[in-house]
Amino acid sequence: MKPKHLISAFDFDAAELKTVFGLARRVKQNPDAYRNLFRGKAMGLIFEKPSTRTWVSFEVGFSTMGGHVIYLGPGDIKLGVREEVRDVARVLARYLDLVVMRTFSHRRIVEFARYFEKPVINGLSDLEHPCQVIGDFFTIEEVLGSVDEKKIAFVGDGNNVLNSLLGIAARLGAQFSFATPREHPPDKAIFRRALNDAKKTKAELVATHLPEKAVEGAQIVYTDVWLSMGEETKAEKMKAFKGFQVNRALMKRAGKNARLMHCLPAHRGEEVTNDVMEGKQSIVFDQAENRLHVQKAILIYLLGMSGQVPAVVE
Ligand code: CP
Ligand code: NVA
Repeated sequence: MKPKHLISAFDFDAAELKTVFGLARRVKQNPDAYRNLFRGKAMGLIFEKPSTRTWVSFEVGFSTMGGHVIYLGPGDIKLGVREEVRDVARVLARYLDLVVMRTFSHRRIVEFARYFEKPVINGLSDLEHPCQVIGDFFTIEEVLGSVDEKKIAFVGDGNNVLNSLLGIAARLGAQFSFATPREHPPDKAIFRRALNDAKKTKAELVATHLPEKAVEGAQIVYTDVWLSMGEETKAEKMKAFKGFQVNRALMKRAGKNARLMHCLPAHRGEEVTNDVMEGKQSIVFDQAENRLHVQKAILIYLLGMSGQVPAVVE
């Protein structure tokens, strides 16, 4: 049987997302009940780029539930350089129970998963960041109760985070507006697929190039960096983002009850101002914390262990 992966936001349907949210609520409420769940299991973290949240939340999540974690940075296995991806994948599948991968190329994760006969989690690629966004929708539901009748806005670069937001927003039937510069839209195929899914779930996905329009009346204002990892030298790209900064004036357009979300790391003074990051509307650190609880839930789900999770302690 083919293993279940989380490589794209489209890999989980609405029911699976709800299952993961339910698991995350339980492990968040009662982490001590799960200390031995992963005993005897091993997880690999294959990372080609730096990471704070994704690396640490997966490593802490898996190890505090009894599992063993091995971090494999760019200089360690030299994936695709020292040895072909398919050979590494087949060998590692003999040692590990699952892997989290952070790569430049999304195709590399897809190729690895074709040969790795266990679950693979995308911990960020050039195309998607699904575990981030599952965590984010968990946070949105925690803060707003549910996504029904709420408006979620994204302002910024049409990159991995926005692509995955579109996928999950479509699956959950959310009202989602996003403003990107004309030169930096989300991935066309992903947007098309999300629009197609939206027809079934009644999600509303609205594209604009006007940040004020995207955030008007929104309960959530979400942003991401203008220069992603690997783009640090492309300073000229920043010019396209004039008017796309999430600052006090833009938050005012959304309304005083709107919350600021950011996947982090933030480049203060660029996509978001310092005062908004530090202000009362910011929930970015609660959002970051939830990465830990949701990673645990994703791991339990992909390892097929949902049935072994104790019920919520009221
Ligand atoms: N948001 C996020 O994935 O952060 P890291 O790059 O630090 O893992
Ligand atoms: N778009 C950003 C997200 C970081 C979590 C990047 O790829 O660097």
